[in-house]
Amino acid sequence: MSSPAPTQMNGALVAEGRPVTVPDFLSARSRGVRLTMLTAYDYTMARLLDAAGLDGILVGDSLGMVVQGQEHSLAVTIEEMLYHCRLVARGVRRSLLVADMPFLTFQISPQQALENAGRLIKEGGAHAVKLEGGVRSAAAIAAITSADIPVMGHVGLTPQSVRRLGGFRVQRDASKLLDDALATEQAGAFAVVLECIPADLAQNITAALKIPTIGIGAGPGCDGQILVTHDMLGLYDDLRPRFVKQYADVGPAILHAVEEYSREVRNGTFPGPEHAFR
Ligand code: KIV
Repeated sequence: MSSPAPTQMNGALVAEGRPVTVPDFLSARSRGVRLTMLTAYDYTMARLLDAAGLDGILVGDSLGMVVQGQEHSLAVTIEEMLYHCRLVARGVRRSLLVADMPFLTFQISPQQALENAGRLIKEGGAHAVKLEGGVRSAAAIAAITSADIPVMGHVGLTPQSVRRLGGFRVQRDASKLLDDALATEQAGAFAVVLECIPADLAQNITAALKIPTIGIGAGPGCDGQILVTHDMLGLYDDLRPRFVKQYADVGPAILHAVEEYSREVRNGTFPGPEHAFR
């Protein structure tokens, strides 16, 4: 397969042809550059997102929902993350590749966290890992970063807490959110995802941190944004969070194409002479 042509980018984080690094993320705010991230779970999507010039690609444990069809991400395993991470890594040239640490792969002990983070780097080809939780995950973040593995934190709505939270809800406890974000930074994270928190709180947290914040449902005051690709392309509509902007309607386009294909096969229009070997 030939490579997709790279997009011309104005105000990009790095010059064309150079891969994005953790220090680039750390310098984004002082350079006035907003960070762009989306999720990917396979090679084909990863190379498209990479060619479009995204700064970061996350192999999110949201794959439990949008790839595996489950109601949450709790059952995703480290082996599944490694598999999807390897697929995505083959399609990435430019973007910083971040792999999510699934539920119960970092909570048991800092040593467990370091071992699993190491696997995502060594076997999965990730450049960095992401894990949920602020204060409660600080020891895990410190253990992982002590081995020079870059960590992205994730506070606010942490989907792995869905059973305790009773659903995917906006998080509004300002002092807890700030404590969690500060603990993430102090433990050594290079960036932090702020999910589903009021925009003014996200802006205050961003101002209180030196590391960049990546918002999802956290308003425009963050240093960057991330969305689940299947949501923004209109591929997955089991859940429609308010914070998702749909940039394309790929689901109906696929339905239409498949119906057209079936119709042509059934009525004998496809394959035509131009698709057949003489
Ligand atoms: O799993 C995921 O895709 C995520 C993003 C939504 C931030 O954690």
